[in-house]
This record gives sequence, C-alpha cells and structure tokens, in this order.
Amino acid sequence: MIHTLPTRISGVEILRSQATGTSSKEASAWFSAISQQFGGPRRERVVCTRAGQLTAPSYYRLGGTDRTLRCLSGEMVVVVIDTRHDSPTFAQWHSFLLSSDNARGLWIPAGVAVGWQTVSPRAQLAFSQRLCQGRSQQGWLRWDDPQLAIGWPSIPQDLLEQPATALDLEEIANPDLPCLAQVRRTKVPQAKCSVWYPAAAIRRTLHRQEKTRTQIQFAKVQVDASRTPLQLPNELSNAPGVVGARQPGAAAGITSRATSAMEPTTAKDVILVIGSSGQLGHDLCRYLRQLGTVVGACRDPEKHGLLPVPTFVDISRPASIRTAIRKVRPKLIVNATGLTNVDRAEKDPRIAQLVNAAAPAIMAEEAREVGAGMIHFCTDMVFDGSGERPWNERDRPNPLNQYGRTKLLGTEAIRASGVPHLILRTGWLYSTHGENYVKSIVDLCTYRSSITLASDHFGSPTSTDWLARTLTELLSSGTNDLVGWLAQFGGLYHLSNLGFASRVEVGDQIIATCKQLTLPVVLQKFHSAKQAELPTPTPCPLNCRLDSSAIAVKFGMTLPRWQAELNLQIAKLLDSSILPAQSVA
Ligand SMILES: NC(=O)c1ccc[n+]([C@@H]2O[C@H](COP(=O)([O-])OP(=O)(O)OC[C@H]3O[C@@H](n4cnc5c(N)ncnc54)[C@H](OP(=O)(O)O)[C@@H]3O)[C@@H](O)[C@H]2O)c1
Repeated sequence: MIHTLPTRISGVEILRSQATGTSSKEASAWFSAISQQFGGPRRERVVCTRAGQLTAPSYYRLGGTDRTLRCLSGEMVVVVIDTRHDSPTFAQWHSFLLSSDNARGLWIPAGVAVGWQTVSPRAQLAFSQRLCQGRSQQGWLRWDDPQLAIGWPSIPQDLLEQPATALDLEEIANPDLPCLAQVRRTKVPQAKCSVWYPAAAIRRTLHRQEKTRTQIQFAKVQVDASRTPLQLPNELSNAPGVVGARQPGAAAGITSRATSAMEPTTAKDVILVIGSSGQLGHDLCRYLRQLGTVVGACRDPEKHGLLPVPTFVDISRPASIRTAIRKVRPKLIVNATGLTNVDRAEKDPRIAQLVNAAAPAIMAEEAREVGAGMIHFCTDMVFDGSGERPWNERDRPNPLNQYGRTKLLGTEAIRASGVPHLILRTGWLYSTHGENYVKSIVDLCTYRSSITLASDHFGSPTSTDWLARTLTELLSSGTNDLVGWLAQFGGLYHLSNLGFASRVEVGDQIIATCKQLTLPVVLQKFHSAKQAELPTPTPCPLNCRLDSSAIAVKFGMTLPRWQAELNLQIAKLLDSSILPAQSVA
C-alpha cells in the first residue's frame, strides 16, 4: 500500500511505502504497487546516474501522462516545476531529496516538469509513466532558466537529456510566443551548440529576416545577460523588442525564486567540515558554502551525500586527522564529529576518548600549524542535571557519563590550545536526515500504538538546520578575516532553540504536527514514566536546559522557539525538502 502526502506544488504528491530490500526486488515491488494503485498500462524503466549528472526538467502537456519516480539506490535531488498557467502554484518550483533510505517516491501530474541531479556517487531511479495514445506531448524546460533560478545542488558536471527544444518557462506559459528552439534549429543550422549562436550568424540571419518577428526571437536569445559570453551585435541591440539585459525574475507574471543558499560566494577561504556525514556536519556543509569553499571530511563518502566528494578522515587515528588538515590547509576547521551514542561511549570508553577528547585536541594543534581557526560543538551532558535552572557558561561542569566526560575534555583542550575558536554548547539535536529522535518518533507514530517517554528529562530540541544557518550568519560578518573574527568574538557559548520541554512534551508536539500535516498517525498519546524507570543503561542528566541568553545578547540574535522550529523541520521532513532558502519562506 502506498500512502500519499500533499506537497507545496499543487497535485504533486509524496508517495510513502515500505522499503523491500535489494534494489531489483524493490523496483518490481514498487512498479506493481504503482500499477495497482494508479492504473496501467505503464512504461517502466530503471535509470542509472552518476554524481553531478543532471537530467533536465521535462513535462507532459495537459491531457498527457502522469509519472512517478522513486530512488532505489543512492541519493538524488528531484526538482518539480509547475508549468500549468492556471495552477495556483504556477511558476513555483520545489526540490525533494529522494534516497534509498527515505524510500519515498513522487507523483507528478501532467503539466508539471521534473528533473533531477544525483548527489551520491551513483544512484538508480525507478521511473514509471502511464502509456497514452497518440503523439508524444512531451516538452522540455531549460534547467538554467534564469527566471526560475532553480537551486540545483551543484553546477552539472554532465547534462543529460536537455534537447535543443528546451524552452524558458515564459515560452511554455505563452504558447503564442515564437518558438525559440525551432528558430535555433532551422534558421541557424551552422550553430553547433544548442544554447549559443555566434554573433555573426545572428547578424546574418537578422539581416535576411529583417521584417519578421525573428528579430525578437533572436533578441530573446541574446538579452539573457547571465548566460551570454557574446557581445550583442549593434544592429541587434537596436532591434525592436530588445530592451537591454534581462535579469533573473524580471519577466512579468513569473514568480522568481530567491537565489539558492547553496550557491558558493566569491570568497575563497577553505572551510574544512570534519564529520560531514553526520546530521550537523551535513547541514554545515550546505550553509557554510556561502562563506567560502567547503571541503567535507568523513570516513564513509557514501554517507556524505553532497558534492564535492569529501576527504577521507578517521578521527580515531591521529595521523589521519593530521594528513587531512595538512592536505586541505583550511582557514577554518569545523569539528562536527563525535561519538554521540551515549551507550556506546559508556561501553567503549577508549573510542570515546579518542573521538571526543583526543581528536579535537589534535585538530587544535593542526589548526595552529596551518594558521586556521576552529569551530567545535559541545554538549549539555557535561552538566550533572541537578536542579531546574538552565545552565549558563559560568556553571561548573560535572559529567555523569563517558560521553559528557570525554566531550568536556575535548572542549577544554581546544580552549587551552590558544587557537582562535568558537565553541557552541548545544543539546537535543535533530535534523531531517541522519538518525535522531524526531525522525524515529515521526516514523514510529504511524504504526506503533504505545510508546513510553520520560517526563522528568528536560532540554531544548534544537534543529541542526537552524544551528548551521545561525553559525553561518554569525561568521558572515567576519568573512574578510575568519581567524581574526574568531580571535575577537569567539569563546564558549550555549546555543539552542528557545524554551524547554520534557521528552513527553516533545513527543506530543511531534504527534500534533504530524496530524496537522495529514500524516496517518496511529499513536494518540505517549505514556510517561520517570527516566529512572526506563531501560536506559547509561546514567544521563535530567536537567539539560541551556541558557543561551549570553550569545543572543552579544550578537543581537532572536532565537526561535523550539516548537516553531520543530514544526518547520517536520514539514520539511515530510516534504523531503533540502533547500532551506525555499522552505523557510
Ligand atoms: N546529537 C545531539 O543531540 C548533540 C547534542 C549536543 C552536542 N552534540 C555535538 O554536536 C556534534 C554533531 O552531532 P551530530 O548529532 O551531528 O552527530 P552525528 O550525527 O552522530 O555525527 C557524528 C559524526 O562524527 C563522525 N565520526 C564518529 N566517529 C568517527 C571516526 N572515527 N572517524 C571519522 N568520523 C567519525 C560520524 O561519522 P560516521 O557517519 O561515519 O559515523 C559523523 O559524521 C558532535 O560533536 C556532538 O557531540 C550533539
């Protein structure tokens, strides 16, 4: 059975089903479920792609066929664009992360264009479309239509399937406009490239067709300043219909999108994010691109999931850390690693010591060596959880478990190293990717009727998306000299979303949000118990409240309430969106 969830693009739905094992088994199970639910006969195929490859958006004209897609292996960003002029979401686009892990598919009605780019080293996509009679009604939309400014994960290394007939959205929406692509093909046969024509060829054709609408057609080719490497020929500049360079979003009636937060800026400082496969590391890689060139580092590139391919590092081996840092020679080292599984840290204190305590110390040594600054993340678990008052930066740590103890050692080593640093002490992190309690509860509440959570364990749920974005905003005032900025404004700060809740209250909020977003929820209410009654082997502090007022006052920040941020992130999780600049609006 496939469950459907609405998305922000009218008529496009997320399809949720259970993963069924290997990709070939999964493909046939998926295809037969689609046929049963949505009817046939259908054309089915499995498409294989590599990292960076981009399949340009295509659409079926109204009355044409619907399509479904689902990622069988790897990870890809799928972008849907509404080309239906009469739709309430016309000219809007939205992106979804489809992966073998989230086992989600998409239902794309006729009139909605869909394209995709692979972000994992390899990916397989199961594609199914209803067969329809008569001529193909398929059309193509330019992947780089400047008015749409689609935030693809990266500039495509390999562009698949963008034919010469690809049109701007404006041309699709206004069928009376002359068909630019046909002009390109038939009137300028000597042009080798489907996008650009030599200025001389345009001039010659213009001369021949002086009195026709072709002038305007060619003007349309040329006025897109964001793409033209050519000078406008004089006669073209003066031709009727040419009004100068057209900036993205200038055309009337088209809703232009904000430039993606994933675009790199011109600053060239190299930022090394160690632990880029973790939930916080992943978001840091996405946001910090605004400040410089981000290089991810992790031990399993398959889990990194973003371009470019990360550097290898095993932080339990000092030599590996040193090699990675000396190879990249960053201006900023961001340590998002940690042995975060508290029970594992308790069982294996040697690894906890290496990862949480020794590794940050080595990173700080290397940072000094290459002249870099450091960002590090510490935990609320360095406190013993007594009382009910939120902990501030001046409170004395007194960890109860190995995780807290080793994280404290790592933090102290960085502070003692003299390297310019910013240490953010946070807690109860969750994200729309990776493993965390919010994602587990969202999944569990759709099929479990009873779950018990602690009612005396308090903290502030904090989204990694917000944390990474906030850190990027903080650092953005120091992009001219990140190290200098850290030396002047750095230090240790508490930083989490605003307000506190018990684990049960967080669970109740998650259920309420899921219901609001029409997720079929089976669980009605959580059972509550004292933390001591739950089967958790490792002692954990009960009071994990953090007081973030010092950083908020110092940098004039307004912290979002944890409930608002949680609602936003769950909406994103159910949409599978990965583009924060879009979704936050
Ligand atoms: N999660 C929380 O609630 C929380 C609360 C407060 C503070 N923090 C701190 O915030 C930071 C990020 O947390 P998170 O929730 O994003 O953690 P996470 O999702 O568990 O990610 C941890 C990262 O550390 C990497 N790592 C662990 N051992 C490694 C090794 N030997 N070699 C290379 N990489 C290794 C992991 O790599 P693999 O993917 O290969 O395992 C992963 O990339 C950590 O410093 C954590 O202590 C977390």
